[in-house]
Amino acid sequence: MILIANSKRYLASADYEPLDLPLWKRLLRDEGQDYSSFETILAHLHRASERDALLVIDCTASNTIPEYYPRILREGIDIATPNKKGVSGTLGLYNEIQEAAQFSATRLFYEATVGAGLPIISTLQDLIESGDRVDKIEGIFSGTLSYIFNEFGDGNAKFSAVVKAAKEKGYTEPDPRDDLNGMDVARKLTILGRTIGMEIEGPPSPYIFPIESLIPTALESAATGEEFVAGLPAHDGEFDEKRAAAKKDGKLLRYIGSIEVASKTIKVGLQSYLPPKYLSHVDTPRRIHLHLYKDLIILSHSTLNDTGRDPLLCRELGMSVRGDSDCSAGADVTAMGIFSDIFKFSERA
Ligand SMILES: NC(=O)c1ccc[n+]([C@@H]2O[C@H](COP(=O)([O-])OP(=O)(O)OC[C@H]3O[C@@H](n4cnc5c(N)ncnc54)[C@H](OP(=O)(O)O)[C@@H]3O)[C@@H](O)[C@H]2O)c1
Repeated sequence: MILIANSKRYLASADYEPLDLPLWKRLLRDEGQDYSSFETILAHLHRASERDALLVIDCTASNTIPEYYPRILREGIDIATPNKKGVSGTLGLYNEIQEAAQFSATRLFYEATVGAGLPIISTLQDLIESGDRVDKIEGIFSGTLSYIFNEFGDGNAKFSAVVKAAKEKGYTEPDPRDDLNGMDVARKLTILGRTIGMEIEGPPSPYIFPIESLIPTALESAATGEEFVAGLPAHDGEFDEKRAAAKKDGKLLRYIGSIEVASKTIKVGLQSYLPPKYLSHVDTPRRIHLHLYKDLIILSHSTLNDTGRDPLLCRELGMSVRGDSDCSAGADVTAMGIFSDIFKFSERA
């Protein structure tokens, strides 16, 4: 590691020798320099790239840094990132990124953007590159929403109480509307669709597909996450009705994202879902040993896998709960996804 930065300071190795990583926090604080523009960092990268193969690891949620991806790639520098903002941003930026990578034979690795540690992107890329065709992708792409609907279940739990508890346990964003608005799932589907070659417009342009928000209209303007949670009990009836309707058909409520390639249909929303047989042991709203929750299920149907057999299935615990308090959410598995990208870079470097 020859350069490390947060949003305000950066620490660069003057002689391009590796920084003393165990001490990075102290070194960044004491010896780092203030910076106001990513151009400063880009200038360092430019000099360093003349000496060695470089990888930029963008672990921010910044909108700004992805705008530099085309320039970074054109400098001959690879990028690895869990940041969804670039690969799910405007189609213009996405195309620029692809063109820059092609022009300079560099790579943007983004495995962790969709499945954190699950090898979704590389699997899809391998399928496409080896001549397979992906017909359908379907899954539960949000660990938080999976947790919420597992807890909401088919019993008497109140939606508002489940969301409140999830927020208190730190499983939601500070404002749960950032989970309930479906935008994170929409970004993931955009990334998957683009990965298999679909042209999908993304924010700030409107998505070309519908996204069902779970935020009651009356609470869209709540000033804070707390105010939102406080107002949610008034809307429990709406969620009770949806659950009852699903239950009547022997189904479960799940927040699902799906892509049907042939019809170019992308959907993000709440569905009454009848788990296929091969998922029956996965999709049951239950706690299993050690209170582990099923979170992330991603299916990819390809021509080679869609011959009457089970489709390709990737699943993982997006969030694990041990006892009542010890929660290990997505950071560890996300780091695994980033490391798998780093290893791919180092194999070629
Ligand atoms: N955590 C997870 O479970 C998870 C799962 C999947 C994907 N991700 C993705 O991983 C990324 C990081 O998530 P996180 O939870 O670690 O976020 P975070 O806690 O907000 O950390 C982001 C870091 O990026 C730095 N940063 C922000 N803007 C920057 C800029 N313009 N230049 C340089 N540094 C900048 C921040 O610096 P300051 O400290 O100065 O603010 C901070 O250190 C996000 O894109 C997120 O969507 C995370």
